[in-house]
Amino acid sequence: MSAGPAVIAAAAARLRAAGCVFADDEARLLAAEASTATDLAAMVDRRAAGLPLEHVVGWAEFCGLRIAVSPGVFVPRRRSELLVREATAVATGRRRRPGRGMQRPVRPVIVDLCCGSGAIGVAVVTAHGGADLHAADIDPAAVACARKNVSAVGGHVYEGDLFGPLPAELRGRVDVLAVNAPYVPTAEIALMPAEARLYEPATALDGGSDGVAIHRRVAADARSWLAPRGRLLIETSARQAELTAAAIRDSGLAATVISDDDLGATVVAGSPREHAQRAG
Ligand SMILES: C[S@@+](CC[C@H](N)C(=O)[O-])C[C@H]1O[C@@H](n2cnc3c(N)ncnc32)[C@H](O)[C@@H]1O
Repeated sequence: MSAGPAVIAAAAARLRAAGCVFADDEARLLAAEASTATDLAAMVDRRAAGLPLEHVVGWAEFCGLRIAVSPGVFVPRRRSELLVREATAVATGRRRRPGRGMQRPVRPVIVDLCCGSGAIGVAVVTAHGGADLHAADIDPAAVACARKNVSAVGGHVYEGDLFGPLPAELRGRVDVLAVNAPYVPTAEIALMPAEARLYEPATALDGGSDGVAIHRRVAADARSWLAPRGRLLIETSARQAELTAAAIRDSGLAATVISDDDLGATVVAGSPREHAQRAG
């Protein structure tokens, strides 16, 4: 709808009173997304009640893409751009040693495990320009949302626990296993901002007592799914990186910690030991 300045100012005032820091920007966005004045009023109400902006408008901006995000589904975070960047680099073979055959997969197999909305896999496939994408999540709401995003880039989405629902023929063929699983220690969920604590499900946040319980389960099974030169990439926090790396090492893979201070992001990469040095 084309809302006038007075309507936008009123929406911004309501949002500001509710504690929204970027009230003017959000009011403009909501006005642009609403189809009628009634629609705008309902959106402002939901946002003022604390619903994440992305859930109100139904999408999140991630890696320059518009990713559909339904209520109850984890909102992709900007820090996950590091995971996308690393996964894309592996997919495109940029990290392979030059002049040694360049065994770059023509159409790499990418698995986005614990995919939520599917944002990670979709961003990698979009950046890489074509890949065989498979995404899985245990939460039916996330799976339904991921289907919207992932099918738009020709990928497949499965529902179930970690590797359980993946097609068996992917075993030993995965070039990139990208994982942003829950990694918040259980006791710290109570300390998270209300938008996450109240509107994202515990299954999307809770990583067990030290936060890396799911990382351990992923790492334990990853090797049998990776291609000989495949790479496991797990998003974690700087504080938990050594625990995640230890889980990867315990599974028999070599582990490397990668961080990006600007994004405040940490990823641990796992590679078959015989290819770890060459993979860089
Ligand atoms: C932190 S969210 C990340 C979602 C998505 N990867 C992203 O970055 O936007 C973690 C996701 O893991 C899923 N999840 C939790 N436990 C799982 C399990 N055992 N198997 C598969 N998915 C799981 C949750 O449903 C949630 O969607």
